[in-house]
Amino acid sequence: MSLHRVIYVSDAAEIAATSLLTLVDILGASERNNRRDHITGVLILHSGKFLQWVEGARLDLDRLMARISRDPRHKNLVVLSDLPITERTFPDWFMAQVQADPPIVGKLSATLTPKDADEVEQLMRSAALAHAAH
Ligand SMILES: Cc1cc2nc3c(=O)[nH]c(=O)nc-3n(C[C@H](O)[C@H](O)[C@H](O)COP(=O)(O)O)c2cc1C
Repeated sequence: MSLHRVIYVSDAAEIAATSLLTLVDILGASERNNRRDHITGVLILHSGKFLQWVEGARLDLDRLMARISRDPRHKNLVVLSDLPITERTFPDWFMAQVQADPPIVGKLSATLTPKDADEVEQLMRSAALAHAAH
């Protein structure tokens, strides 16, 4: 089984940016489906942008990304990185919502492109670690 990790950013549709219910709905479906498909990762929603880290087997990841790409609750999805990995970073999180800390908030205020991938990866790791410590 070849493990991969995708990190992407997107613009939340107005309803998703403002309604907690939408986020709860996304996290509910994620928990259910990702447990089934062995997808793990982290989701951040801040100032109208989603930043998501998803890791899993290639086929499951491709199926998930196809569903996510079609989801009208966001648009302008830009994949920042899609790389093979040797092990999962978040093996226990079928999708954890993580609060954006100030460095991530700063990063999200600009338009992100694949050249930001390494920095975004580090920032997401730190934010997720702080989250896990709570
Ligand atoms: C920003 C964002 C992140 C999402 N992340 C996931 C995810 O990790 N796993 C998942 O199954 N669905 C995720 N979804 C929802 C999918 O687009 C889709 O609605 C869902 O997988 C359909 O599941 P269902 O057929 O069980 O209703 C996400 C949607 C958005 C907008």
